[in-house]
Amino acid sequence: MIHLPNLKHISDEDIADILERAHKIKRNPRDYTSLLPQQTLGMLFQKTSTRTRVSFEAGMTELGGSAIFIDWNASNFILTDVAYEIEYMSRNVDCIMARLLHHEDIQTIVAASQVPVINGCCEKYHPCQALTDLFTIQEYTDKPLDQVTLVYAGVQNNVSNSLTLICERLGTQLILATPDPDPQGESADADVQNAIQSSSNIEHTTDINSAVREADFVYTDTWIDMQYFNDTSRTAENKATLEKMLPYQLNETLLEGRSCKIMHDMPIHADFEISPGLVRDPRSVIFEQAANRKHAQKGLLWWLFEQADQLIQ
Ligand code: CP
Repeated sequence: MIHLPNLKHISDEDIADILERAHKIKRNPRDYTSLLPQQTLGMLFQKTSTRTRVSFEAGMTELGGSAIFIDWNASNFILTDVAYEIEYMSRNVDCIMARLLHHEDIQTIVAASQVPVINGCCEKYHPCQALTDLFTIQEYTDKPLDQVTLVYAGVQNNVSNSLTLICERLGTQLILATPDPDPQGESADADVQNAIQSSSNIEHTTDINSAVREADFVYTDTWIDMQYFNDTSRTAENKATLEKMLPYQLNETLLEGRSCKIMHDMPIHADFEISPGLVRDPRSVIFEQAANRKHAQKGLLWWLFEQADQLIQ
């Protein structure tokens, strides 16, 4: 059975196939309203979400299926082994999407589930976001993906890890304009570091000014992981991070005279990783990118259900 814990175990052709299906559905959504009748997606959340929850639930509904939201903290996931709860859950739904704190719990879920599992974001990977991002880039350029230059500015994290993995596969030139990452950090991943060090199309620099000169697209994300942003026990640490990161902010001065498109996976912390003016700048495709979560995930669900032979023909 195929799962999506990250983007490491599906082929380049499969990634291209998922993106193509997403474009087809976005172009003609009414042709796909009966794609997943009587199919149910179980959505398990241990962390907060707006886009992932809304887009998967709306997406399943629009494909003729349904989705169930399960709050980890309001369920018996807090009382017992994850594997037992998942084995039960997977006997009642046709696919599971989980947003969890720890990737090792995603791996436990993959092992225990009788149905396909999608990682809805953990501390190491955000594969659904990366699929959406490349889908969005395809919409805003005439270039093939292997001729596009994407600059990711900010901190290396789960979002940049998945971008690195997908760009490496598709040949997109990715420049990570970030401070040197902490090799012991919670998002550290050996395959990602190997891609940065050895792939001809992946590069790391601390010089954001030179990086943006080459950009077709510039992209940023929160500098502090969502579960820590409002954590009062980390006030001093967060303040230090925000000060250290200010040279990497996307703002009007940095992008003056540049024609690149501006991306952000949201939620936005305006005045930190991006200036409020750039969020609404004519070059911004941020809200279109966020809305594309639904289309990209519909393409993924179509592909995944077909792989699992769960499409009702
Ligand atoms: N980008 C993203 O995953 O948004 P949410 O955290 O709101 O789901």
